[in-house]
Amino acid sequence: MAKLINGKEISAAVKQRIAREVSEIKQKGVTPGLAVIIVGNDPASEVYVGSKERTCKELGMYSEKYALPADTSEDELLALIDRLNNDDKIHGILCQLPLPKHLDEKAVINAIDPRKDVDAFHPQNVGHIMIGDYDFLPCTPAGIMEMLRYENIETSGKHCVVIGRSNIVGKPMAMLMLHANSTVTICHSKTENLKEICREADILIAAVGRARFVTADMVKKGAVVIDVGMNRPADGKLCGDVDFENVEPLCSAITPVPGGVGPMTIATLMQNTLTAAKATLR
Ligand code: GUN
Repeated sequence: MAKLINGKEISAAVKQRIAREVSEIKQKGVTPGLAVIIVGNDPASEVYVGSKERTCKELGMYSEKYALPADTSEDELLALIDRLNNDDKIHGILCQLPLPKHLDEKAVINAIDPRKDVDAFHPQNVGHIMIGDYDFLPCTPAGIMEMLRYENIETSGKHCVVIGRSNIVGKPMAMLMLHANSTVTICHSKTENLKEICREADILIAAVGRARFVTADMVKKGAVVIDVGMNRPADGKLCGDVDFENVEPLCSAITPVPGGVGPMTIATLMQNTLTAAKATLR
C-alpha cells in the first residue's frame, strides 16, 4: 500500500501559517489583495477561479474578480491590467489561462507588473526561477515541492522524470527539482522510449493533461508518483494523468486526484500574494 500524500491536509497547514501572517500584516495597515481575471466561460477555469477567490476570503485577504466576456478585445484586457498594475489595493494579478484564441497570451503575461505576477509567468520571474533566486514561486511546482518536504521525501541524487514541458508546470517543475539536487529528465509527446524512461524514475511527475496516461508498466516499484492532471473523460469522472487504481499498489507514495496537487497550487498562490504585499512594506 502506498502512502497517500494528502494535499488537503498539507495545504491546510500552509494556509494556517499564511492566515497568521495576513493578520500580522493587516495590523501594519496592508491587506493583501488579489485580482483574478477570467475571460470567457471555460467550466474548468471557472471552478479554479472560484476556489482562488474563496481561499482569499478564508485567509482574510482582499480579492476582486473580473469575469470578462469571451469576445473581450486585447486592448480592453490590457487596459484592465494597466489599471490593476496601478491600484495600491491589489498586490497580485492573475489572468486565468488558457485565454480565448484571439488574445495573445504572451502580450497579456508581459503586461502584468512583475512585482504583481503571482503566477510567476512573466519572463523576468521565469528568469529568476531559472537562476534559482526568486520571490515568486511557480504555483503548482512549488506546491509539489512543499508536499515532498512535508512527507520527508528525499530529492537529492534521485532521478526525477517530469512528463510534460508546459511553461506553467513541466519546465518550472524541472528547475525546482534541479535546485533540489535531483537528476532531472523532461519527457514530452515526441519522447522516444517513454515507458522505459519513466520506469527509471524515483520520482515521477505527470503533467500531461491526458486521463490515466501513466500506466502500471511505466512505474518502478517503490517510486513516488505525483499526479498534476485534472481530467474529466467521457465517463464524467474526475481523474488525474495517472491510472491510480493500477499504479498505486506499486508506489511508495502517490498523490490522489482530487485532493492532491490542486489544493497546494492555491496555497502557493496565496503565499505569493502575501509575499507581494509584504514587499510594499520595504
Ligand atoms: N491555468 C491552469 N493553471 C493555471 C495557473 O496556475 N495560473 C493561471 N493563470 N492559469 C492557469
